[in-house]
Amino acid sequence: MNKLIIVSNRLPVKAIPRGNSFHLVPTEGGLSTGLKSSSGSDSEECWIGWPGISNREQPVKDELNKQLEQLHLHPVFLSEKDKKNYYEGFSNCTIWPLFHYFPCYTHFDDVEWESYQKVNDQFCMEVLKIAEDNDTVWVHDYHLMLLPALLKKKKPSLKVGFFLHIPFPSYEIFRMLPWASQILDGISSADLIGFHTEAYRKYFHECQEKIRKSGDNISTPRNTGVFPMSINFDKFNKTSKSPEIKAIERKYRMRFKDQKIILSVDRLDYTKGILHRLYAFERFLEQNPKYVGNVKLVMLVVPSRTNVGNYRELKNHLEGELGRINGRFSHFGNIPIHYFYRSLPFNELVGLYKAADIALVTPLRDGMNLVAKEYVATKGKGKGVLILSKFAGAAYELNAAIKVNPFDENAMAQAIKEAVEQDEAEQEKRMRAMRRTIKINNVDHWKFSFLNRLNGINSRKAPPKQT
Ligand code: ADP
Ligand code: F6P
Repeated sequence: MNKLIIVSNRLPVKAIPRGNSFHLVPTEGGLSTGLKSSSGSDSEECWIGWPGISNREQPVKDELNKQLEQLHLHPVFLSEKDKKNYYEGFSNCTIWPLFHYFPCYTHFDDVEWESYQKVNDQFCMEVLKIAEDNDTVWVHDYHLMLLPALLKKKKPSLKVGFFLHIPFPSYEIFRMLPWASQILDGISSADLIGFHTEAYRKYFHECQEKIRKSGDNISTPRNTGVFPMSINFDKFNKTSKSPEIKAIERKYRMRFKDQKIILSVDRLDYTKGILHRLYAFERFLEQNPKYVGNVKLVMLVVPSRTNVGNYRELKNHLEGELGRINGRFSHFGNIPIHYFYRSLPFNELVGLYKAADIALVTPLRDGMNLVAKEYVATKGKGKGVLILSKFAGAAYELNAAIKVNPFDENAMAQAIKEAVEQDEAEQEKRMRAMRRTIKINNVDHWKFSFLNRLNGINSRKAPPKQT
């Protein structure tokens, strides 16, 4: 039987070295949390990716290989240099900021581009070690945009799908990339290319067309589609009803007795709009003094890309501003913002979602945003309000959320007030509508719509080039 080989930069678990040993922890981020919670397909499945440690850690590597093998995970070890140039550099200082409309954070560096090409080659070699004729290879995300073309060139019988988990930007942004044609060419060789929203798909085609017209020789993409990624609705829904979660919910409700809890959950990333959110909450307190002391913001922030300068600066800035705002509005034993800089175990996270009266999900730009969907899935028939940025892919599906422009501080403050004051019947009505959407469009729906469409496509040898 043919295999399904999933390839992404990271594996769904990462190894944290501890002397001569290590322990495995779950990888945060939507790609991993979403995909790993999906059901297995009929084919034998395995996953290729980086376990988060470099190839220097030899004693750890052998034992790690053994443990990963049992989980059908195949590690790709990056060198320290490639971790810096391919992962922190080209992936997270070039593609990530540019595709999220932060050109001012983007740098363009030949050495990093070389490393990106080299690591895409390295992933190609790893795939070819296990791929047999007619296997399906599903490549994920912006770290591996050259891989579809490399695979098709080396083994044309493979069926290759590519899914982009971040926005595809408009032409005026994309064409800033000195390697725009190579990136398009790399993706376009896939038999099927998937995006979260129609807008991203449209921009991709627009870039293809315009770059081709400008005289560059690039492959024509054959099949593209829109597949909004989602979550395992049943897992969140069921877990949220368990006695253990109810106890965790009670713990938080007791802690914040007679107070409204506003929750935000993100990786510490400048695209998530964490500072803008903080200022909007400050404005809300300023404009509504009666809520000072009885509306609390709980900010759960998970460390991310801590070696990248912009992320470190954001942390310092955020913690400074948090301190300032808390200093301004606190009373003894009563502070307005509770901040946690760490990853939480799944049950604690679900308990917090369950306890939260309001989820404040306001990225400046986000491919999808699964946190918004996770919050809704835990709410049962109950109450809860979702405030959601118009710039998250999830906003196209979750129409019953209170939608906001995260750059508009006054409108955000107003949305918080509206959420705090929304009556229960209205909350339940909106929650019902959003839950219906996510229950049907769950992560299995996403996975199998993509794979079924890919399997129905006749693989082709080499994509036609057009000028
Ligand atoms: P991204 O992929 O950009 O990180 P998403 O919102 O799509 O954004 O996915 C984030 C995922 O990481 C969610 O599944 C969320 O539950 C998880 N996550 C975020 N912060 C934490 C945290 N502090 N503890 C545990 N899980 C977290
Ligand atoms: O979905 C966006 C994403 O970049 C994923 O590719 C990745 O799993 C996640 O965010 C976390 O980022 P990192 O792998 O850099 O820790």
